[in-house]
Amino acid sequence: MTDSTKNKIVIAIDGYSSCGKSTVAKEIAKKLNYIFIDSGAMYRAVALYCLRAGLVVDGQINLKALLENLGKIQISFVFNPSTAHNDVCLNGENVEQEIRQLAVAQNVSQIAAIASVRQLLVAQQQQMGRSKGIVMDGRDIGTVVFPQAELKIFMTADAKIRAQRRYDEMIAKNEPVDFEEILKNITERDRFDETREESPLRKAADAIVLDNSLMTREEQFEWILGKAQEKVMRYEL
Ligand code: DC
Repeated sequence: MTDSTKNKIVIAIDGYSSCGKSTVAKEIAKKLNYIFIDSGAMYRAVALYCLRAGLVVDGQINLKALLENLGKIQISFVFNPSTAHNDVCLNGENVEQEIRQLAVAQNVSQIAAIASVRQLLVAQQQQMGRSKGIVMDGRDIGTVVFPQAELKIFMTADAKIRAQRRYDEMIAKNEPVDFEEILKNITERDRFDETREESPLRKAADAIVLDNSLMTREEQFEWILGKAQEKVMRYEL
């Protein structure tokens, strides 16, 4: 163990889409003074690249063209002082806002199912966690990216509750949305993420389940923080 990794742990938060993983992961990272990485943002940035480059035709990704273009896709993070978090960049351009659009959400699952895309991003994610002190959320963090993570949380919530939360968020931002469309997108993404061949969404055997259907943000935060503190204390002994 090096000095920089001493007493620091890796926290892997996996789970279904729109469960609030990133929101709580960010808060935990801030509290522990850890790095927070939203791995979904990386897949979304690749999806945005594909949409912009016209690699998605009639809702289908042109796999051959994507594989030819993979070397041209650079994903990085830049610290945003106004939010105190890392924004994702696509070839140097901050795309943190653009990757949240519905068009990206509708196409990202098929792109995240491509083995070469996953290999590229997983290698970067592992590199980011080499000094520990990181909270990363996604679908395969506890199973593939950091199978040795000291704390693994698997988050879930009722699909209708997740859709309602996402709907309220978008309405608050004055974005025109339809509840049924959001619910359909969420359930389709869940099914796709769970049934894909490459690193399907699945609870790691040693992950702790957090069903937040009836929990407030504060309750989720306290619950995860408690688990993290227990682990950190154990590693300090
Ligand atoms: O968490 P999110 O909704 O921003 O994720 C976007 C998509 O990327 C979603 O379809 C699942 C996929 N994803 C993944 O396959 N593996 C990850 N580690 C993170 C996200």
